[in-house]
Amino acid sequence: MSPSRSSSWLTPLILSVLFACTANGDHHLSVRYYDETCPSAQHIVHSVMASKVAADQAIAPAVLRLFFHDCFINGCDGSVLLDDGTPFFESEKAAEPNDSLRGFDVIDEIKSHLEHSCPATVSCADILALASRDAVALLGGPAWSVQLGRKDSRGADRDAAENDLPSPHANLTGLIAAFAEHGLDARDMVALSGAHTVGTARCVHYKARVYGREEGGRADIDPSFAELRRQTCQGDGDDAAAPFDEQTPMRFDNAYYKDLVARRGLLTSDQALYGCGGPLDHLVEMYSKDGEAFAYDFAKAMVKMGDIPPPPGMPVEVRLKCSMVNYRRTNRK
Ligand code: HEM
Ligand SMILES: *[C@@H]1O[C@H](CO)[C@@H](O)[C@H](O)[C@H]1NC(C)=O
Ligand SMILES: *[C@@H]1O[C@H](CO)[C@@H](O)[C@H](O)[C@H]1NC(C)=O
Repeated sequence: MSPSRSSSWLTPLILSVLFACTANGDHHLSVRYYDETCPSAQHIVHSVMASKVAADQAIAPAVLRLFFHDCFINGCDGSVLLDDGTPFFESEKAAEPNDSLRGFDVIDEIKSHLEHSCPATVSCADILALASRDAVALLGGPAWSVQLGRKDSRGADRDAAENDLPSPHANLTGLIAAFAEHGLDARDMVALSGAHTVGTARCVHYKARVYGREEGGRADIDPSFAELRRQTCQGDGDDAAAPFDEQTPMRFDNAYYKDLVARRGLLTSDQALYGCGGPLDHLVEMYSKDGEAFAYDFAKAMVKMGDIPPPPGMPVEVRLKCSMVNYRRTNRK
C-alpha cells in the first residue's frame, strides 16, 4: 500500500531532507533574527515554558500540537492563535468544536513577558516555534536551532482548518498526500509523526480503531491493546483521553515506533505508517531501534515544517496580542 515503486525512492528523500533549504519565498528566516532587537527572546520563552511544564507536563504536548496546526493551516503564521471576534474571519480555534487544542494561555503569557522586554518585536508565530522546540527538549527530546523572523497573519482561515489537517482515520496514501501538500515528504511525515510519542488522544478519535469498526476493516491491532483501550473508551465517553504511548507517555523518546511495530499505535493514522511492506516499514523499524536517528530526523523535519510560509499576498504584522490582530496595521509586507 505504500508507494509501490522500488525502494530506491528513499534515497532522493534522504537527500532532500539533508539539503532542505530553510529560506522560503520572501520570508527570510534566520537563527539570529532577534539578536539585536530582542536578545533575551529565547531565554524568556524558555523560562516560561520550563516553569509551566514543571507545573503541568501536559502543557508541552499541547503546545507542540498547536505549532503543527499553525503550520499546516496557511503556513506558520500564528493564525491558529486568533480568537473569533473580528468581522473579517472566523477563527481556526472554532473550526472543530471537539478539536481540543490547548496551550493558548501559555503562549499569551510568553507574549506578555516579551512585550514587556521588547515591545512589538517578536511575532506570535516565532513564539510558537520556540515554545515547541522547548516543549520537546523539556520532555527529554532533541533540541535544535530555531529559524526566526516569521510574521503573524492578519487573517485566519476556518475552511482550511477544517480541510488541510490530516484525519486520524487517514490511510498511508492520504497521509503522504496531506504532508506533500505542504512540501513535506514521506520521510518527514514519518519523523514528525513521532511527536505522538507524547500526549494523549480522546476516545472519539481512536474508538473506531479499537472496536474494529474502521473502514476497510483491517484489524491491524494487537488484541490486548485493543482490549485495554476499549476500557478507556466506552459508551458516550468520547472525551476520555488515553496516552499515545502507554509506557512513557510524557517522555519524548522513540517508543512511538516500538508501539507501531507491536501494532499498538493509538490512531488509525499512526498504525498506517507501518505494516504495508514498503520502505516506510524499514524507516519505522530503524527509528524503533535507533533513538538518535529519530531525534536527528525529527529536529530536521521540525525546522522544515517551521518554514512553511503563509500564502503570497497575506497581510502580516507582529501582533501585540497573540489572540487578536492589531487594531492598526503596524507592518505591511
Ligand atoms: C500524521 C498526521 C497527524 C494526525 C492525523 C494527527 C492527529 C491527532 C489527533 C487526533 C490527536 C488527539 C487530539 C485529541 O483527541 O485531543 C493528536 C494529538 C497530538 N498531536 Fe497529532 N496528528 C498528526 C500529526 C502530528 C504532528 C506532525 C505533530 C507535531 C509535530 C503532532 C503533535 C501532536 C501532539 C503532541 C498531540 C498530543 C496533544 C496533547 O496531548 O495535548 N501531531 N494528533
Ligand atoms: C485511502 O483513503 C482514500 C481517501 O479516504 C481512499 O480514496 C483510498 O481508496 C484509500 N486507499 C487505500 C489503499 O485504502
Ligand atoms: C463532539 O462530541 C460530541 C460527543 O462527545 C458529539 O455529540 C458531537 O457531535 C461532536 N461534535 C463534532 C462537531 O464532532
